[in-house]
Amino acid sequence: MFSKKKKMLVTCALPYANGSIHLGHLLEQIQADIWVKYNRMCGHEVYFICADDAHGTPIMLKAKELNIKPEEVINKIYTEHISDLKKFNVNHDNYHTTNSIENFFFVKLIFNRLKKRKFIKKKIIKQFYDDKYNIFLPDRFIKGTCLNCKSINQYGDHCENCGTTYSPISLINPFSVLSKKKPILCNSEHYFFDLPQFNNFLKHWINSNVLDNNIKNKIQEWFFLGLKPWDITRDGPYFGFKIPKTINKYFYVWLDAPIGYISTFKNLCDKNIKLNFYQWWNKKSDTELYHFIGKDIIYFHCLFWPAILEGIDFRKPTKLFVHGHVTLNGYKMSKSRGNFITAKKWLKFLDSDSLRYYYASKLSSDINDIDLNINDFVFKINSDIVNKIVNLASRNAYFINNYFHDNLSKNINTKLYFKFIKKSEIIHIYFYKRKYSHVIKQIIILSNIANSYIDQYKPWLLIKDNTKKKKVQSICSMGINMFRVIMIYLKPIMPILSRNTELFLNHKLCFNNIKYPLINKKINKFKPLFNRINIKNIII
Ligand code: MSP
Ligand code: ZN
Repeated sequence: MFSKKKKMLVTCALPYANGSIHLGHLLEQIQADIWVKYNRMCGHEVYFICADDAHGTPIMLKAKELNIKPEEVINKIYTEHISDLKKFNVNHDNYHTTNSIENFFFVKLIFNRLKKRKFIKKKIIKQFYDDKYNIFLPDRFIKGTCLNCKSINQYGDHCENCGTTYSPISLINPFSVLSKKKPILCNSEHYFFDLPQFNNFLKHWINSNVLDNNIKNKIQEWFFLGLKPWDITRDGPYFGFKIPKTINKYFYVWLDAPIGYISTFKNLCDKNIKLNFYQWWNKKSDTELYHFIGKDIIYFHCLFWPAILEGIDFRKPTKLFVHGHVTLNGYKMSKSRGNFITAKKWLKFLDSDSLRYYYASKLSSDINDIDLNINDFVFKINSDIVNKIVNLASRNAYFINNYFHDNLSKNINTKLYFKFIKKSEIIHIYFYKRKYSHVIKQIIILSNIANSYIDQYKPWLLIKDNTKKKKVQSICSMGINMFRVIMIYLKPIMPILSRNTELFLNHKLCFNNIKYPLINKKINKFKPLFNRINIKNIII
């Protein structure tokens, strides 16, 4: 794991700038942040970036509703997003926005290059227009009766009753979700990215170890159905970048959003002279690029995005890491159900490290949904963190602080210590593969061994015998050392607990010196490191 120093760029999908950061966003951000912190602990050079996805119809409508400019909406949300993520110790090197000068620059560059290379085609399409709101309606803003099963109130892109996908113009009795009026059908000339030209490239790319197998199967289905040209234009009024040399046409938000990965990194390069943009994004780059995304946006990241990068001769992602969705007590989170938890609401009642730990204990490299069950959450935090891990520190520190002037012994049980550090081999593998739940399982096994060791020697009895004092110091020093090794493994997951542990031990937790136990060294007085959670105090 320490062999070759790698240069890595890690991204999270860009949250929409029309709402607050919630537990779903946090799953992805925490999953990526743990991986970044872990890789940094291994000595790699890692840059972690994200941005707000600031364009599109929902943002435009939100501004309309509030009677303010869309820029005001996105600026306010931008500050809020940055502050919320920071409170969960998700530490990006840069958090930018897609509504930026850099992004407009790259969107134009990419569009022109694709056009010049004949990867962009023009086509006249038929589109629904709401003449009360004066906007062209995106598929999700049109409802009607399904042409297949005749079920009413179905969205413009697919029927939730029978699963058929279709174009909104084939709906029976279509109406605008905004005005409830029958929309007008208009012709409009649009630009299309010619995805089918990349069919062979994509088939090859998908099989080049960039994805886990379960996701590959899903993509095979799309190939089977056949790739289609992708409409990258929206008619005004639209909140986005205007397409040069056109009247009232804009780039579709999903074109400029992933380009936000490039422009956010460019913005970072402008702030950090050590970074050379070309070195990271050229086709033959020896750096690595990792995207963390949710399963709902696979199509955009596994098909459109690599095809665009190929079309403009930029580097492709090294790997895409896809996760499932968060559910709350078994239900999908939704505002209407009233079980929608924002980052802010969580922090009213609970701390950030505990969410990071709980998510880690549930996360693996698959795309299964992750249920946050509040009873299970409280049980797990109190049992694992309070009763097992922190208690290990507190019960041993009691003796070291009160009987040995804070001094750790010169002797510890080296055989058992070796067993603890040997676990790092498997823990490295689990971290690297994002199998955090397996990391946690190993940590709990170690905590149980450590607590049994103390229970077996019973320092509280030995201390009564003057001739056994040295033995007590050695046993409790071993207890502190086991706690320290466990905390090294937990460091990428629980940054606050780790920082407080470092203050308590007077020692930086890192993999480099894990081989050397803390012996003949002073520690600080123990202060409570983590508060037990009382379920009665949680109202979420
Ligand atoms: N703006 C797009 C992404 C553009 S990336 C070039 C978007 N935004 S989002 O705010 O809806 O979601 C951002 C990320 O959070 C996505 O990866 C999405 O899958 C993830 N999540 C949003 N809700 C989620 C859950 N309930 N659970 C887990 N993650 C989900 O998509
Ligand atoms: Zn139907």
